[in-house]
Amino acid sequence: MDHLLPPEIVKAEHSFTESLAACLDTDALLRLKGAYVGREGSHAARMMELLKAAPKDQKRELGAAINALKQQWEEGLKARQTELEAVKRQRNALAASWDPALPPPVPASGALNPLNRLMDRLVEVFRPLGFHVEEGPEIETEAHNFDGLNIPEDHPAKASSDTFYLAAHPDLLLRTHTSPVQVRTLLRVAKDMAARGGIRFLAPGRVYRKDEIDPTHSPMFHQVEGMLVGHGIGMQHLKGTLEYALRALFGPRTEIRLRPSYFPFVEPGCEVDVSCPLCGAKGCRVCKGSGWVEILGAGLIHPNVLKYAGIDSAEWSGWAFGMGVERMAMMLSQTPDLRLFFENDQRFLKAMGGLD
Ligand code: PHE
Repeated sequence: MDHLLPPEIVKAEHSFTESLAACLDTDALLRLKGAYVGREGSHAARMMELLKAAPKDQKRELGAAINALKQQWEEGLKARQTELEAVKRQRNALAASWDPALPPPVPASGALNPLNRLMDRLVEVFRPLGFHVEEGPEIETEAHNFDGLNIPEDHPAKASSDTFYLAAHPDLLLRTHTSPVQVRTLLRVAKDMAARGGIRFLAPGRVYRKDEIDPTHSPMFHQVEGMLVGHGIGMQHLKGTLEYALRALFGPRTEIRLRPSYFPFVEPGCEVDVSCPLCGAKGCRVCKGSGWVEILGAGLIHPNVLKYAGIDSAEWSGWAFGMGVERMAMMLSQTPDLRLFFENDQRFLKAMGGLD
């Protein structure tokens, strides 16, 4: 029927539905009603004028088209009126039931990832012993990641099958451990060692290795490095400090055990086990029946590491350790798959106390 109506009416017909939906209160609806079906100056009034002026033989058909359109508009307006009234009633009911004395709804808030909270806890355990936090970049030089740590040119860790090198800068890599923070910190403080009387710090952070992802491996994970340099430091100091820290973390009845091991940057080097905190060293799935769980690598700082930083190894000595955070978090929380720590599934974080 459109072909009978002049363009301005066709345009009005097309914009009606949209204009109707845009009416958010009865005032706006009244204005729209006036513009479309009002007695004067409306689209409907204009249509009546057109009908009057139309040639006799078109009047019937045009009249029917105009009536149909007018009826369509009137029904639309009525339906919208009913809708708006319902909304208004609902709004009034809500306002009447609102009790200003009720506590406001508390929005759900995020929280630190359990790995970050564990690293924070370690920092807090070491703080009373005078340890502060040092940081280093995740993109490292070969010099800091390997050379300064007495790692020989042909060491397997340097292979591109184990380490992520930057394609555009083959001398740069994603650090494979937090030990380069040892090198950076020693280089920085070497000049003031005498004035400082030594140095002690923790270095928590992300590290990267070319490992396939599975329940116990990830190409990105976290370590906490610890280092102390002073006068006459030996294995007894390392053992005593670790015993204190690991008991603070795993409980006062925790025992520790040092097994000889090799890392190029310590001599002697060791791996440290804790008595299984889950079964009380009786033997369980986590400790694989042995009663012990390996927790970190450590040792006395190799003289070459001090020498590289310009520190006299005849005068200074110290210890260092590096521990894997995911391993420890998995054990403490009995989480069987480390990927859960990275996926940020709210249900997991909530179960871990990560969301209040
Ligand atoms: N950097 C070693 C690793 O990633 C851990 C370590 C740190 C060992 C310090 C000894 C001393 O496995």
